[in-house]
Amino acid sequence: MSQLNTKARIGLIGLGVMGANLSLNIAEKGFPIAVFNRTGSVTDEFIAESGDLRDALVPTKTYEELVAALDSPRAVIIMVKAGGPVDAVIDALVPLLEEGDMIIDAGNADFHDTRRREAALREQGLNFIGMGVSGGEEGARHGPSIMVGGNPASYETIRDIIEAISAKHEGDPCAAHFGPDGAGHFVKTVHNGIEYADMQMIAEIYGLLRDGAHQAPDEIGALFERWNKGPLNSYLVEISGKVLQAYDPATGKPMVEVIVDKAGQKGTGRWTAIEALTLGQSPSTIEAAVAARSWSSEKETRLVGAEIFGTEPEFRPTLPKESDFEEALLVAKLVAYDQGFKLLKAASDHYDWGLDLARAAEVWREGCIIRSALLDDMAAAIRSGLPQDQLIFSPDFIAHVKGGLSALRRVVSYATSAGLPVPALSNALAYFDTMRQGRGTTDLIQAQRDFFGAHGFERTDGGEGKHGPWHA
Ligand SMILES: NC(=O)c1ccc[n+]([C@@H]2O[C@H](COP(=O)([O-])OP(=O)(O)OC[C@H]3O[C@@H](n4cnc5c(N)ncnc54)[C@H](OP(=O)(O)O)[C@@H]3O)[C@@H](O)[C@H]2O)c1
Repeated sequence: MSQLNTKARIGLIGLGVMGANLSLNIAEKGFPIAVFNRTGSVTDEFIAESGDLRDALVPTKTYEELVAALDSPRAVIIMVKAGGPVDAVIDALVPLLEEGDMIIDAGNADFHDTRRREAALREQGLNFIGMGVSGGEEGARHGPSIMVGGNPASYETIRDIIEAISAKHEGDPCAAHFGPDGAGHFVKTVHNGIEYADMQMIAEIYGLLRDGAHQAPDEIGALFERWNKGPLNSYLVEISGKVLQAYDPATGKPMVEVIVDKAGQKGTGRWTAIEALTLGQSPSTIEAAVAARSWSSEKETRLVGAEIFGTEPEFRPTLPKESDFEEALLVAKLVAYDQGFKLLKAASDHYDWGLDLARAAEVWREGCIIRSALLDDMAAAIRSGLPQDQLIFSPDFIAHVKGGLSALRRVVSYATSAGLPVPALSNALAYFDTMRQGRGTTDLIQAQRDFFGAHGFERTDGGEGKHGPWHA
């Protein structure tokens, strides 16, 4: 069975895309690893293709063999489909483990599940780590961004492995322990929420350039490639530039033109929005991105709507300058990150996690999907203290916001007049305008509530009486 004389330092269950690549990454960094997959033939194929790393891998065909191959205290990473499969694997493993052993769920778990699993395993003397891993297939193989939650003492026993396999930013590992139980998986969930918003905003700008400026996909791709050399430098802008300049080998058409414009939103984006609402937050750019994916799935309805109403606008507004689109995207993106960090802070306060938000920004600088040149400055701004927990109020970002605000207004007004939907960009603007409006319109809401339900209100002058004269 084993190619090793000594036992493996760590085990991994689930040799799907992520598990296989993470195992090779761990083996490459010099840590012997025992692997197991429910379907044994997958393990055989994985080992057959492992090349030079074969000697650091211990293939196993049963849970018993896997556990027997591990050094004590045992540490086993689970990298299977999130939800029920994770519970099934835990149920199979637990009877074979001993007090002090550790299970690490490295999938995209709902952090509520992680909290539940951590508490249940703790009762049985076992450690449970919830570990968010971002970076897709490439990241898992060569350096993902890793967000850990769970007992800090048990994390210390595997920290050397996790830091070794993670991406690095100027030598600093993009891996950190964020707090107990579900803290790591929550940071990963919010990462994915920001990812939804960032992707949606880039797609909205693409839509305006395609349907408003009538640019071809490869022109837009080349523009994104240029933007990627400036302040918008980020993985998502980079890959969008590449995608838009790719052609379908079968038809010769631009690749995006042969892709159906429908997407699902079952996972982490939706969880971010749901948890935010539960915590009394409303990250409007993330909510808009989740909504946009839902709307996109109603393709048939949209086609009927286009038949009834047409897609031509009532009048033709003036197209903003190309640089306006770039500046608008930058400001809107800052708002999306602002909302993400604010949500992390709210969850940290609620669950008493003590999340280090600056560290989250640092861990996202490399390896993950939302990596971006801005994150280093964001980390510094957060460390200096954010007024009202708002990134966009930070002295480091006020100039950026002021500089791009009129461009965002021009782009959103253009889109609105041209009949082109920009839910995330317009929600970024609505949020900004609300957060800088000292006196809003909720005085009337409170009066309405008092009128129909005698709910009462607070007076601006602090005076007596908390009801209006309507029923006098
Ligand atoms: N793909 C990505 O880019 C990415 C990025 C970050 C995080 N993630 C997360 O990482 C996790 C793994 O994702 P993935 O894309 O590699 O693979 P996946 O398709 O989510 O899962 C495939 C693996 O799960 C195993 N599995 C499914 N049900 C099982 C069960 N009941 N008992 C035991 N094993 C079971 C499969 O075994 P069999 O071979 O026997 O079917 C296979 O090894 C997920 O939580 C995913 O959300 C994925």
